[in-house]
Amino acid sequence: MEPKEQAGALLANAAGYVATRTIEIGLDHGLFEVIAERGPITSDGLSEAAGIDALYASVWCRAAYGAGVLEGHDSGAYSLAPHIEMLVLDKTSPAYVGGLFKVLTQPEVFDRFSDNFESGERIWWDQTSQEWIAAVGETGGAHNTRFIPGGISQVPGAAERLSSGGKVLELACGTGVGLVRLGTEYTDLELVGLDGDAYSLQAARSRVDDAGLSERVELVHSGMEDLDAEDEFDAITINLSMHECRDIEKVTAAIYRALKPGGFFLNSDFPFPESAEGIRTVPGRIMSGIQFFEALIDDQLLSSSYYLDLFKSHGFEDIGVVDLTPVHAITYGHK
Ligand SMILES: C[S@@+](CC[C@H](N)C(=O)[O-])C[C@H]1O[C@@H](n2cnc3c(N)ncnc32)[C@H](O)[C@@H]1O
Repeated sequence: MEPKEQAGALLANAAGYVATRTIEIGLDHGLFEVIAERGPITSDGLSEAAGIDALYASVWCRAAYGAGVLEGHDSGAYSLAPHIEMLVLDKTSPAYVGGLFKVLTQPEVFDRFSDNFESGERIWWDQTSQEWIAAVGETGGAHNTRFIPGGISQVPGAAERLSSGGKVLELACGTGVGLVRLGTEYTDLELVGLDGDAYSLQAARSRVDDAGLSERVELVHSGMEDLDAEDEFDAITINLSMHECRDIEKVTAAIYRALKPGGFFLNSDFPFPESAEGIRTVPGRIMSGIQFFEALIDDQLLSSSYYLDLFKSHGFEDIGVVDLTPVHAITYGHK
């Protein structure tokens, strides 16, 4: 590779950083919403509508145009580029990625990692900010949208089992996004949500209550490692959290024990690339960024084949993987 080519590749990273910060600022100040509603709109029009400085608005619009999230018109006005409204604003869409820009710009990803680089000090969820937990809930929301019910319906026999009622446990339920989807999609289920973080569970309680599901959802404050049930659940689900187990062997054994015979374990997670080439892809590079936070809380994202080996070694049957997107796979098996 020639120096010029290497410099181009290197500087594309700086351009990606500019785009990330530009998108995050736009989300933070509601600029995408204003443009979606009123566009095409000039930067002066945006300045007036959003109550922001006119020079700053023009700088932001030009950078957002450069990043490809805005289209320019001959009149000098801007509108959202195709699909951007769905991708960055529509939290109910399975294609939603807006939350990722908020996640990546929180101090929990790079700043705190860098601060702790020498000391190697780790933290846990109860030492993260409410903004962080909300941003993770949004990013995890798109995974939940794809997982329930579309992803589950691709696991042979799982949707039938959930549709016929019974009891389901969601491990590491966080702020309750998955519980509400499960309760809404499968109306005869009794649900238990378990999480080790008290603040997240409090947010889950409000979300479950707001969805009118309080009668059917029990919330338990506990580590996954302390799960102690036998032949109790028709299915156990988990979204973006299995890699966070403090003792994954112990948790997997406890999950197997807690399932009724034939009960499903459905693990929705980031599939960390297995190969060096995979790490150089766009999804691989994004997941490598998420690994900074995972290291801070003392774990790492895992590959789908790691999970399949794990499930096999604990006696799960008919194990398999459903690849939903390059950053989302369901690994599964039943007792
Ligand atoms: C990435 S968040 C995902 C939350 C939720 N599943 C979602 O999709 O929004 C990880 C969650 O796992 C919980 N968690 C991590 N390790 C845990 C453990 N060992 N036991 C119980 N909860 C845990 C955290 O408190 C946090 O709420």
